[in-house]
Amino acid sequence: TKTLKQLAKPTGVRIGTAVDTAALADDATYASAVAKQFNTITPENVMKWEVVEPERGKLDFTEADKLVDFARAHKQKVRGHTLVWHSQLPAWLTKGVDDGSITKKQLRRILKQHIATEVGHFKGDIWAWDVVNEAFNDDGTLRDSLWLRELGPGYIADAFRWAHKADKKAILFYNDYNTEGINPKSDAVYKLVKELRSEGVPIEAVGVQGHLSTDYPLPADMQANLHRFGKLGLKTAVTEADVRITLPASAAEVQAQDNGYSYMLQSCLLERSCISFTVWGFTDKYSWIPGVFPGEGQANLYDESYQPKSAYAAVQRDLQLA
Ligand code: G3I
Repeated sequence: TKTLKQLAKPTGVRIGTAVDTAALADDATYASAVAKQFNTITPENVMKWEVVEPERGKLDFTEADKLVDFARAHKQKVRGHTLVWHSQLPAWLTKGVDDGSITKKQLRRILKQHIATEVGHFKGDIWAWDVVNEAFNDDGTLRDSLWLRELGPGYIADAFRWAHKADKKAILFYNDYNTEGINPKSDAVYKLVKELRSEGVPIEAVGVQGHLSTDYPLPADMQANLHRFGKLGLKTAVTEADVRITLPASAAEVQAQDNGYSYMLQSCLLERSCISFTVWGFTDKYSWIPGVFPGEGQANLYDESYQPKSAYAAVQRDLQLA
């Protein structure tokens, strides 16, 4: 039987997973599944600022370079994740801003340099960059982050300009969660990217993360949402799909999970602008969910022993039908 990437090939939509580089190094079953099933990969953590610059001015791309090498060896595209985010910032940076030793002016230069350095380091190896991640609240207002507080809303346009300067070919994404359907948050993203495009800011794509839970209804009108971004001339992608369940999982919840994966994947497959569907980890063995949502889990396509679940079969079927 065909693997997911073999099934995805004729659809033109890439199928991806987030990769935990520790598991990639230590767990041969994990590594072989990443290689066989997916044709794009995203580093789950190792391109984030706290990892690549743990001490000010001391860059460490060791783990990220290994991931890029793995992708090259297996002819996979890499989604770079993520350049500007409020989370997983290095301690020296947040501390410096807090104690006033990093001024606003300096912070702007530090961000500019971070983007130039990281994008420059990986130039030619990154298919798409999540340039700005999670800048909005669910009500559509801008998130009160260090970036907004210190630099004002213009940091978003600046980040895209700086990233484009460092790599003209990478597809530059704005990426967020709870933006799969049409709602106040995706409306705000829509308004922002429309403005940025009209000002000539080099933003080319919008990613919807796709972190769903069977405790909530499916996001409304996902295909229409992707389509409105497509009509602006943007590419779209599902960048971090998973569907968590409150444990123990009932048969109905498992079925709802299959529907969740299927709904997101079909929305992408049916919308021309959608270029990839990435799951945020593919096995329950290494999921971020139990750590952040205690009592929830089993969110992935394979169980902890690498047995494909019914969600895997749903993805397989949707790719086959597309
Ligand atoms: O690397 C340290 C390790 O040295 C230490 O021993 C260990 C002890 O807790 O922590 C390790 O760091 C953890 C890191 O993952 C690497 O495993 C952090 O504590 C943990 O907070 C971090 O969680 C990540 C989370 O982002 C942080 O916000 C998850 O793995 C990662 O899946 C998650 O990914 C995000 C996307 O980037 C953006 N969208 C939402 C998504 C899910 O939250």
